[in-house]
Amino acid sequence: MVPTMGALHAGHVSLIRLARDHAGPDGEVAVSIFVNPLQFEPGSDFSRYPRPEKADDEVCGAERVDLLFRPLPNEMYAEDRSTFVEETSLSERLCGASRPGHFRGVCTVVAKLFNIVEPDMAVFGEKDFQQLAIIRKMVADLNFPVKIIAEPTVREPSGLALSSRNQYLSEEERAQAPIIRQALLDAHSKSQRLGTAALKTLVTKRISSAPLARIDYIEVVDAETLKSPTKTTRQRLIAVAVFFGKTRLIDNILLN
Ligand code: PAJ
Repeated sequence: MVPTMGALHAGHVSLIRLARDHAGPDGEVAVSIFVNPLQFEPGSDFSRYPRPEKADDEVCGAERVDLLFRPLPNEMYAEDRSTFVEETSLSERLCGASRPGHFRGVCTVVAKLFNIVEPDMAVFGEKDFQQLAIIRKMVADLNFPVKIIAEPTVREPSGLALSSRNQYLSEEERAQAPIIRQALLDAHSKSQRLGTAALKTLVTKRISSAPLARIDYIEVVDAETLKSPTKTTRQRLIAVAVFFGKTRLIDNILLN
């Protein structure tokens, strides 16, 4: 299964193809498309989130998706719903801090989708590194019989991570947005020499040099706990969220 919110792009397609590889010749691939109201905080882009149904149908058709699950909001959520799924440790920082309630919405909908579709495996993208980590934790903590598979981030030639939200960007914003990837690659190349604070400063300076960039967060964290690195940290992650105009873009890089 590949859970999505639609406006399918080449990143989603690579998840679908990885699902196909894992499903094998006798397996079936399901895609869900549901713009989940529960994971949009008040005042965010829920109502203007793109919903290009016909184009999404065509992508699923071209990829020979066996099952497309596209429920309506009232089919997913009863008015008197009162049960939620919440991860409480990995969700604290990064997008969890700047989007309160977001991961509770993600976990709740993914748990429901798993229960409805009953996949053996589900594919998630590393672009949303924190989401992937939280889903893995939810699956382990609550014994979902679903194997979680990760797909690396698919990018434009400029290095900009593909996202359904990129289509909100003006021409000028789009021209500046690749600074995110450049800053992360620069930090990656210097990560053997630089400590956590210096890496954060470097990425902040680099991204701030784009006049239209407004930083939401730039964090260097332990890639397993998603908290500040400690002596026992095995791998660090730089995760960023940056606004260009009203559009919030996220990206990340693992350091060796
Ligand atoms: P959505 O943003 O549509 O993303 C669906 C899946 O595609 C996620 O696993 C995401 O990480 C992956 N993805 C998006 N852009 C990608 C890229 N450039 N490269 C690789 N993978 C990419 O994430 C969600 O929807 C929702 O939160 C969802 C999990 C469906 C729950 O509502």
